[in-house]
Amino acid sequence: MLSLCNLYVCLSAALMQAVAHNVTENIEVLAFLPQNNSYLFSFARVAPAVLYAERILKTDGRFSGFRFNIHFEDSDCLNSAMFTLVDRSCGQKPHLILGPVCEYAAAAVVRLASHWNVPVISAGALAAGFSNKNAEYAHLTRIAPSYVKMAEIFTAMFERFDWRSALLVYEDDKEERNCYFTLEGIYHLMPDIHMKTYAFSEGDALDTDDVLQNIIDTEVVIMCMGAEKIRELMLAAHKRQLTSGNYMFFNVDLFNASSYGNGSWRKGDKYDNNAKQAYASLNTVTLLRTVKPEFEKFSEEMKTSMKQVLRDCKDCESINMFAEGFHDAMLLYAIALYEAMKNGYSKLNGSEITSRMWNRTFEGIAGQVSIDENGDRNGDFSLIAMTNIGSGTYEVVANYFGGNGSFQLLPGISADRFTLKGRHKSPPEIPDNSCGLGVSALTGVIVGAVLGAVMLITFYFIRKNYKITIERRTQAEECNTAKHRQLREDSIRSNFSV
Ligand SMILES: *[C@@H]1O[C@H](CO)[C@@H](O)[C@H](O)[C@H]1NC(C)=O
Ligand SMILES: *[C@@H]1O[C@H](CO)[C@@H](O)[C@H](O)[C@H]1NC(C)=O
Ligand SMILES: *[C@@H]1O[C@H](CO)[C@@H](O)[C@H](O)[C@H]1NC(C)=O
Ligand SMILES: *[C@@H]1O[C@H](CO)[C@@H](O)[C@H](O)[C@H]1NC(C)=O
Ligand SMILES: *[C@@H]1O[C@H](CO)[C@@H](O)[C@H](O)[C@H]1NC(C)=O
Ligand SMILES: *[C@@H]1O[C@H](CO)[C@@H](O)[C@H](O)[C@H]1NC(C)=O
Ligand SMILES: *[C@@H]1O[C@H](CO)[C@@H](O)[C@H](O)[C@H]1NC(C)=O
Repeated sequence: MLSLCNLYVCLSAALMQAVAHNVTENIEVLAFLPQNNSYLFSFARVAPAVLYAERILKTDGRFSGFRFNIHFEDSDCLNSAMFTLVDRSCGQKPHLILGPVCEYAAAAVVRLASHWNVPVISAGALAAGFSNKNAEYAHLTRIAPSYVKMAEIFTAMFERFDWRSALLVYEDDKEERNCYFTLEGIYHLMPDIHMKTYAFSEGDALDTDDVLQNIIDTEVVIMCMGAEKIRELMLAAHKRQLTSGNYMFFNVDLFNASSYGNGSWRKGDKYDNNAKQAYASLNTVTLLRTVKPEFEKFSEEMKTSMKQVLRDCKDCESINMFAEGFHDAMLLYAIALYEAMKNGYSKLNGSEITSRMWNRTFEGIAGQVSIDENGDRNGDFSLIAMTNIGSGTYEVVANYFGGNGSFQLLPGISADRFTLKGRHKSPPEIPDNSCGLGVSALTGVIVGAVLGAVMLITFYFIRKNYKITIERRTQAEECNTAKHRQLREDSIRSNFSV
């Protein structure tokens, strides 16, 4: 057939078909999901959602002409996704890339894809560094709310309740660095808040005394670390009588918050009672999950598929954001491609399709999904806290809606809960601390060159244990910190090239 007609005839035939009838098109999709089931976004958890979306699209009249050919490739949190992509570079390039989720893996893949003009949709790549879509991340659409979007709930609360300073405490691992990037979002979005950062490496014992030393002149403590460590720190804070409303405690767990819900203080040891009292002042920030009738069927199917593959899995009862996100990614792409083709563009025009995915709201599997003008999903978040001190049960106490920026306490929840009892020594004035860094000083790594970044990780963790405390107080210090980081990164890069 193809050989019989010349290019122009074919093209105009396709165009006419696109306008007059439904569009028919084969689409190569490359999905990067880890086979390793210790990741919440592993193949076993997420692939069924992608295939479900493909089936749904077939039944939708507009998209029934799309034939998705989905290749799943294993990926880890380092380089394997990039290597796979490079290995394929001589053959046919995919028309759409889904994933990777991990920051470093995504950074490499998105750079290459943007260069190839291939759209990438990920339910990950949540770090602040990816917000800059001007060049190397131009083709990235983020279908799950990024960490900077998460930080908006803190901006709203700091403003509403007049808090002025924060201590960020996080645990850092070697590969994914989720907690580092999570709190970086807050650091990045709130330049006017006096902020201290306390980091320790995963697997190290937590020196609670040392952490609590740093609390003294701050009002709000925001933590990202394992459930055990949270409990340890809350117990220590309780012992020092820091949990009676004179400090606000938060932890952030966007994707695995089930472990913080009801009874997360309970470990069956002699500290349970104290832990329950301590947790009365702990608030957990997590994603606001919505459910609609269609979701039930999806959710049932996902659970069935997951249980077939994952034996004794504890999280199979809930569908996480990654499964939901990659499902919606397929819908979003189909909508954008359909629109682009109706307007005479081809599936090969990645930048055109990408731009049609941005600044748009559509119905996802669990509710409305709104992508902002920068291609990042607006996020809705919930605050979960203990509402019954006797039984120690948790409920959602407030919601934040990213679409309109409104923070709403739920009925019956008093603002007193968030009122600081007694103001601490007020922190020194913070001068404007923009010193020419586009992204916060903490970001250095992600915007570095791929190889540089990998070297930096290696270098960073060669000293196995580390603990850093950074205080952002004055402009001079801020700039110094930034300078040191940049210098360090540069020196590693040049070492590498030598
Ligand atoms: C899976 O990932 C975990 C955590 O990153 C790691 O400890 C484990 O060795 C990995 N398993 C395999 C088979 O690679
Ligand atoms: C074409 O799309 C319309 C809706 O836009 C749908 O009703 C119809 O069934 C589709 N036709 C085919 C052949 O898929
Ligand atoms: C989720 O939380 C539970 C309880 O803290 C923990 O056992 C599990 O490893 C977590 N899963 C992931 C993927 O982080
Ligand atoms: C892709 O679409 C853009 C408009 O968004 C257009 O300027 C460009 O020429 C198109 N590229 C190709 C190869 O068709
Ligand atoms: C986003 O969409 C709104 C209305 O849908 C429009 O007014 C606005 O100009 C769009 N922004 C961009 C950057 O395209
Ligand atoms: C916690 O448990 C109580 C009682 O069982 C229930 O009413 C509440 O909705 C639960 N909260 C969460 C966040 O699951
Ligand atoms: C913001 O949006 C949410 C959900 O879209 C809605 O429930 C809420 O009423 C809105 N708030 C304001 C102040 O518009």
